[in-house]
Amino acid sequence: MPYSSINSTSTSSTQLTKKITINSLHKLKSAQEKFVVISLYDAHMAAMAERCGVEVVLIGDSLGMTVLGYDSTIPVTMEQMIYHVEAVARGNKKSLIMGDLPFMTYATTDDALRNSARIMQAGAQMVKLEGGAWLAETVKQLSERGIPVCAHLGLTPQSVNKFGGFRVQGRDEISAEKIRQDAKILTEAGADLLLLECVPSLLAKQITDSISIPTIGIGAGRDTDSQILVINDILGLTEQPPKFSKNFLLEANDIPGAMQKYVADVKAGMFPGDENIFV
Ligand code: KIV
Repeated sequence: MPYSSINSTSTSSTQLTKKITINSLHKLKSAQEKFVVISLYDAHMAAMAERCGVEVVLIGDSLGMTVLGYDSTIPVTMEQMIYHVEAVARGNKKSLIMGDLPFMTYATTDDALRNSARIMQAGAQMVKLEGGAWLAETVKQLSERGIPVCAHLGLTPQSVNKFGGFRVQGRDEISAEKIRQDAKILTEAGADLLLLECVPSLLAKQITDSISIPTIGIGAGRDTDSQILVINDILGLTEQPPKFSKNFLLEANDIPGAMQKYVADVKAGMFPGDENIFV
């Protein structure tokens, strides 16, 4: 056979046995059990994630930088997202599949409804969008129409030009309070998950403890309900890796081993380490 099948690697004991839903994630939060998220883009990695017990896979618009060679996520299009959501959905039937809405595809609520429908029809079970209180009405309308939403606060890469670079957010009390308020407003609007990127650990803990929905952290300390990393960072493919990431291939024999080590370390509370967090 000239090409390997997506089912070709051996089965792991951590393999997901049933479909992960929002309810599964809420149960894990209540039980204070960490869940694991990876941002990845293709059917093979998606299948491996299912075998390694990764509860949520994100098809992130980071694919603009990790796969397509852009300097930011801003050039990513709906068509590119749909192509990769379809590939991931073909490879993975058990993880909850979440698709990013690209830059300016949810600038109005009507845009968000139309484009979220396309991501869902491509195979996602949830959409992710970046921004605070201004998205409350959009989140409410998506939620009312049966589209689960992950809100994304802190360093929101689609706003890199507004931030003046990829910088930690919420370091002073005024901006920390804004993120706390945004988290509350989006939760009340109907968001199902909240992703916190590059914020001080204490702020992420305060938010995680104060809202009912599960939080996902990246560069947000150890106290969020789950962690996310981009597959390229897990596998050491990034030339200048961000402080919050870790090359798990250095502690494994092969790529499935690296993914399994990431899953095990998140679940055991061993990742992120002190060197990966912001204060
Ligand atoms: O696009 C992406 O992969 C993301 C994660 C890095 C959080 O948004």
